[in-house]
Amino acid sequence: MGELSVNHLLGIKYLNKDDINLIFETADHFKEVINRPIKKVPSLRDITIANLFFENSTRTRLSFELAEKRLSADVINFSASSSSVKKGETLIDTVNNILSMKVDMVVMRHPNPGAGVFLSKHVGASIVNAGDGAHEHPTQALLDSYSIRERLGSVGGKKVVIVGDILHSRVALSNIFALKLQGAEVKVCGPKTLIPKYIHKLGVGVETNLQRALEWCDVANMLRVQNERMEISYFPSTREYTQQFGVNKKILDNLDKDIVIMHPGPINRGVEITSDVADSNQAIILDQVQNGVAVRMAVIYLLASKIKR
Ligand code: NCD
Repeated sequence: MGELSVNHLLGIKYLNKDDINLIFETADHFKEVINRPIKKVPSLRDITIANLFFENSTRTRLSFELAEKRLSADVINFSASSSSVKKGETLIDTVNNILSMKVDMVVMRHPNPGAGVFLSKHVGASIVNAGDGAHEHPTQALLDSYSIRERLGSVGGKKVVIVGDILHSRVALSNIFALKLQGAEVKVCGPKTLIPKYIHKLGVGVETNLQRALEWCDVANMLRVQNERMEISYFPSTREYTQQFGVNKKILDNLDKDIVIMHPGPINRGVEITSDVADSNQAIILDQVQNGVAVRMAVIYLLASKIKR
């Protein structure tokens, strides 16, 4: 079996195509494992993993924890709201204290872009970025591509539109890197104010008309508006946003093909996507969640196999 080219998963930016293929092939195997009556393998019995969440999370945190437990790793959990970070401890001190308890791998979500890269330079453990501010969310992009591959057979050559708040979204940036690396065509669609000025440099098209974007694509990845990262108003009102960039069943039914609808969650039903779309057969939102466990098992397993002990 092959090896990843990296010792940490800090962002899709640092991966190559072979890394992604290896992660997907490994995830195929783990997907089969988690559908067995006994959903566990003993692979990581000698590995301890700390999940450090300095920012809110439901899905990602549960998904990582489940992936780790299904690999039989020992797991410790930490969340910033109930920790000494509130007492003024630095990130390196917090992490070094945890590592002194003989932790091999750190899965970290942090509000600051680059927090994972910073940590990887200062501590000895293998680092997995579970979202660093508005920068990258590599495991989300991997599970998104894996889910497209599962539904459509491949990612290469597919047309994917990412709709919504591109400016503040780590899911958007990681998806753009992952999709381009695999040879997909990518467009972004949203209010002009929520599309970064540097977007063309990423080799991505821009479409400000949702109808045209949906007519063009095979897959639409609907993002949540990241209100918590906004200090000013980027569009007049939520109602207006929904009118222009929300997907409903009528819009989908008027297209001359069945496109695939994705969403990383959490969904704001009735804002970026209506309930009848979220719950329709065209949506693969729950497949994404299910695949997240297998993909994270693959990432953790492959990184753990590179830890020198
Ligand atoms: C995303 C995140 O946290 O970046 N959610 C997730 O990880 N499933 C997207 C979001 O919060 O909108």
